[in-house]
Amino acid sequence: MRLSLAWVLTFLASFRGSLGVYWNVNDTDSINNATALVATGLLDYYTGLQYGNPIGMFSSPYYWWEAGGAWGSILDFWWYTGNTTYNGILKQALLAQTGNNNDYVPLNQSVTEGNDDQAFWGLVVMAAAERNFENPAEDEPQWLYLAQAVFNTMALRWDDDTCGGGLRWQIFTWNSGYDYKNTVSNGALFHIAARLARYTGNTSYVDWAEKVFDWMKGIDLLEENGVNWVYDGAKVEGNCTNITKLVWTYNQGLLMSGSAYLWNMTQDEKWHTRAWEFLNGSEVFFNNSVLYEVTCQSANSCNTDQRSFKAYFSRFLGLTAQLVPESRSKIMGWIRTSAAAAAQSCSGGTDGHTCGLNWFYDGWDGYYGLGEQMAALEIMQNVYCLDRPAPYTAETGGTSIGNGAAGTETQATNLSPLTITTGSRAAAGIITAVIGLSIIACTVWLVI
Ligand SMILES: *[C@@H]1O[C@H](CO)[C@@H](O)[C@H](O)[C@H]1NC(C)=O
Ligand SMILES: *[C@@H]1O[C@H](CO)[C@@H](O)[C@H](O)[C@H]1NC(C)=O
Ligand SMILES: *[C@@H]1O[C@H](CO)[C@@H](O)[C@H](O)[C@H]1NC(C)=O
Ligand SMILES: *[C@@H]1O[C@H](CO)[C@@H](O)[C@H](O)[C@H]1NC(C)=O
Ligand SMILES: *[C@@H]1O[C@H](CO)[C@@H](O)[C@H](O)[C@H]1NC(C)=O
Ligand SMILES: *[C@@H]1O[C@H](CO)[C@@H](O)[C@H](O)[C@H]1NC(C)=O
Ligand SMILES: *[C@@H]1O[C@H](CO)[C@@H](O)[C@H](O)[C@H]1NC(C)=O
Ligand SMILES: *[C@@H]1O[C@H](CO)[C@@H](O)[C@H](O)[C@H]1NC(C)=O
Ligand SMILES: *[C@@H]1O[C@H](CO)[C@@H](O)[C@H](O)[C@H]1NC(C)=O
Ligand SMILES: *[C@@H]1O[C@H](CO)[C@@H](O)[C@H](O)[C@H]1NC(C)=O
Repeated sequence: MRLSLAWVLTFLASFRGSLGVYWNVNDTDSINNATALVATGLLDYYTGLQYGNPIGMFSSPYYWWEAGGAWGSILDFWWYTGNTTYNGILKQALLAQTGNNNDYVPLNQSVTEGNDDQAFWGLVVMAAAERNFENPAEDEPQWLYLAQAVFNTMALRWDDDTCGGGLRWQIFTWNSGYDYKNTVSNGALFHIAARLARYTGNTSYVDWAEKVFDWMKGIDLLEENGVNWVYDGAKVEGNCTNITKLVWTYNQGLLMSGSAYLWNMTQDEKWHTRAWEFLNGSEVFFNNSVLYEVTCQSANSCNTDQRSFKAYFSRFLGLTAQLVPESRSKIMGWIRTSAAAAAQSCSGGTDGHTCGLNWFYDGWDGYYGLGEQMAALEIMQNVYCLDRPAPYTAETGGTSIGNGAAGTETQATNLSPLTITTGSRAAAGIITAVIGLSIIACTVWLVI
């Protein structure tokens, strides 16, 4: 008998269904099994356990920032499914990449690291504090401290010299993109400020969130008037009047869930409205309630980074549902439909649980990678978002210890010219204050 190609393909196809993950949203057993399989697929890209490879980093071509994103998905995997299999390597990874200054600016990443990259590691340690993930030993940096250090060092790079404010994309002048003020850097600063505000109750963070939001709105990165999209960024040349009008799921999600945190903390109606506006604007990312990356997916032009954006958006949808009760029915409709679609895409590869990029494709679409795997995992595990507690605060169960001045105590590894200028100015201020106090003390002593 001769084997025809068609026969072989039919034979292989008959396996596909049985190898893929089984998904029934009403059956927690199936959700736990499916997410565990997809998580295993994600960790297949992790090389940090192999001898001689850096702990915390994934295989090439995944940049350092995406590793921060992926650990966030693994943290959520533990939180939403209760599966502790990866907690040990997660904790080890988060502590391996903090850098000498414990602010997620490791010197050996300075050729790739921008503000947004730093922020993605800030997001996962913030979540670790909010989920009360096992605290590091006393002599190690704590989750809240690390998140504050990321926030503080980013805030120090705020650049009033051009465009009336904003963060540049890059930290280091030598990296391309230093001449661009992008939304993900600024949106992440806003978002982390909102979460620190809610966690600590310190209203200085609310002031920062307002400042970043107002600046973004002021230069028209945020479209209002019923559209409510979040654009990509603005070139410094031309004083940020040249807006790159591309929309990405993760930017929309940063603004939406950041507003949700601020609403929950401040009860200021304007944040409620804004959370809703960004939620309504998110409709552009859904096709029959199935999530997709509208700017690149249909054109098959999503790059390695962009293929992971749906993961963060899925995470931010879950957080928004937790914090804005009225948003729940809309969000859960999207999550449930998209999760089922994502699960049926996870039938590729020799392992049979490799996830695709396009979730409305019938079966696996042939794409694979860390981003695809993370995105499917996040949307699937977020079906549990209302079954688990909302993020804790220092008052409601969070035990992580922080420090309002984290990251600003030493400046040695902050190579940014902006940081050094601002830092030295602050240091000069402190020295002046100390000298001033000594003079007063001497005078008092002399008088006595
Ligand atoms: C899950 O339960 C809901 C409500 O009970 C029902 O409408 C839906 O059809 C069920 N889905 C599956 C896949 O069984
Ligand atoms: C989940 O996995 C367990 C252990 O492998 C198995 O016994 C169970 O039948 C699976 N459940 C579903 C719904 O696939
Ligand atoms: C937990 O996750 C691991 C790795 O994904 C998996 O092998 C294991 O079966 C999961 N445990 C349960 C109880 O689902
Ligand atoms: C960068 O340095 C850190 C120590 O700060 C180390 O843990 C990590 O493995 C290094 N990363 C790479 C890619 O060499
Ligand atoms: C640059 O843009 C900012 C923010 O829109 C504005 O406040 C400032 O006046 C502008 N500067 C110049 C020189 O146009
Ligand atoms: C805005 O930037 C785009 C892309 O770099 C460029 O093609 C265009 O000429 C710029 N527009 C203005 C008004 O500077
Ligand atoms: C904030 O969210 C928490 C958790 O969902 C909830 O218990 C609390 O009531 C909310 N606070 C306000 C003021 O809505
Ligand atoms: C969002 O859309 C719903 C209808 O889909 C509408 O009722 C609501 O007013 C909108 N909210 C905002 C803030 O635009
Ligand atoms: C929306 O999904 C359908 C399949 O469900 C597909 O045929 C269509 O091309 C998709 N639309 C877009 C804009 O991708
Ligand atoms: C509140 O946050 C600000 C901004 O980071 C910080 O400077 C200040 O020290 C914090 N206050 C307290 C009491 O932690």
